[in-house]
Amino acid sequence: MAASCCRWLMSFCSLVTCIVSVVVCVVVAAGLAALVLYLLFRPHLIHATAASVDLTTFSLAPKAWTLRYNLSLALDLRNPNSRVALLYHAVAADAYYQDQRFSHAGLPDFSQPMGSSDTTHISPVAFQGQYQLVGGIAAAAFRREATEGMFSIHVSLAAKTNLQMVGVIRLPGPDLKVDCPLRVQRRSASAPPPHVHPTACHVTY
Ligand SMILES: *[C@@H]1O[C@H](CO)[C@@H](O)[C@H](O)[C@H]1NC(C)=O
Repeated sequence: MAASCCRWLMSFCSLVTCIVSVVVCVVVAAGLAALVLYLLFRPHLIHATAASVDLTTFSLAPKAWTLRYNLSLALDLRNPNSRVALLYHAVAADAYYQDQRFSHAGLPDFSQPMGSSDTTHISPVAFQGQYQLVGGIAAAAFRREATEGMFSIHVSLAAKTNLQMVGVIRLPGPDLKVDCPLRVQRRSASAPPPHVHPTACHVTY
């Protein structure tokens, strides 16, 4: 009787030990994965720059407040991590004026191969069309900026990422968001594209 009780107690104990070690393993593995992701994606690791901006049309119809625009933006992304390739998908860009999203554009998938400490030029985002601006404050801001000749336009880009390591291991990566607050000069179609100082964009995950 005592012997069977002891056997039962021992198998119970080994079950507990087993569960505890599984839990410890899971926690350690999750911690390691989080650490690896943190080391890869410290905010300063990926740099985004608005390399060139071209604004050929940006006009507001007087009374109707219809904004007509033709904006193209070239973005450079730098991934200084030479051990990880980054694959970007579901890439989309939005353009804002006075916090109003006036345009949305989808972009093709792209990747940054492993060891590309150099810069990846994303195919330029083109925003073109018209939008109904809401509110007199935005319209007043437009008129003021039109006299100054410089417009504050905000472009943001969002993408989902996959990480590729040692060629074959593929992991889902964090969602990436790039924010570029721009000061853009409108140019007439006949003038040559202006030389624009590259503007640093803000990268968040
Ligand atoms: C928009 O601007 C681009 C230059 O950035 C130009 O090539 C294109 O023809 C323009 N489109 C329209 C409809 O004006």
